[in-house]
Amino acid sequence: MRKIIIDTDIGVDDAFAVRYGSLVFDLIGITTVNGNCTANMATQNAKLFCSHYKKNIKVYKGASRPLVEPPSPPSFDIHGKDGLGGVYDNPFDDKAPNAIEYLINNVKENPGEITVIAIGPLTNIAIALNLYPDFAKDIKELVIMGGAFGFNGHNGNMSHFAEFNIYSDPHAADIVMQSSMPITILPLDVTNKVQITAKEVANTNDEFLKNISKFYIDFSLKQKIFHDMAVHDALTIAYLVNPQAFTTIKKPCRVITSGIAKGQTVIPRDERVAPNDCFLGLKEHTICIDVDVNAVKEHLLNTLKI
Ligand code: RIB
Ligand code: CA
Repeated sequence: MRKIIIDTDIGVDDAFAVRYGSLVFDLIGITTVNGNCTANMATQNAKLFCSHYKKNIKVYKGASRPLVEPPSPPSFDIHGKDGLGGVYDNPFDDKAPNAIEYLINNVKENPGEITVIAIGPLTNIAIALNLYPDFAKDIKELVIMGGAFGFNGHNGNMSHFAEFNIYSDPHAADIVMQSSMPITILPLDVTNKVQITAKEVANTNDEFLKNISKFYIDFSLKQKIFHDMAVHDALTIAYLVNPQAFTTIKKPCRVITSGIAKGQTVIPRDERVAPNDCFLGLKEHTICIDVDVNAVKEHLLNTLKI
């Protein structure tokens, strides 16, 4: 069974991804990162998740801030005051071993076997690459929820151009995109399309997911582009379960790190080699640009049913 590590700023849609991933793959560890909530809160949330589902999964704490800029404010307006809808008291502390060391040691000791699923800002992944460049060689693959390329009319959710995970640490994202790791990207172009209703969540009989979703669904229903709740991060698992449900392109990708388009993920729009070509020599990553919504929703909801 595929061994996965999920790197997360565990908010609500992250919880769907972690639950889904724990049911279909061998989830060997959870590493936390600053994003939807602080790394401390994400660590507590991951412990709460594991305790609720009685999963003996080790939790590791990662970066508390982006590589260069000060941290963006947590997304409490979307994920609630604790990152998980504000419905549960959390008895756990925020202490945990170092996430970067865990990521490096696991990938190094199991070359070609570990899939890392990054569903928050890419700070931990960039630091792991900086400290251990062979991380790019030893990892089986990296699957990222992040970015926006304008397919299906979907662009940024933090600005006209930039998606939250990339916007939150553009320097880390650009380091990751320039690496030679085999990367698959699940951008808003596809994740905005897969939305589930409160009733569909309730039908899974998963009380934890139902309860933490209430706040996030209320937020979603106030947004023009959503008619229900987008489960962005869960699409990383859905891709690994059924890649045939996705339409993909192979392109090198860079990230704009400053200015009005900070956090925008960019790909070459034609085959020419431009003067000062920022894509020269870069690995072509797999970018998902469309999805069979019904197939993905059916498997996700059926798997989450207890
Ligand atoms: O833009 C969506 C991403 O930002 C998801 O990972 C969500 O959890 C938030 O972190
Ligand atoms: Ca996330």
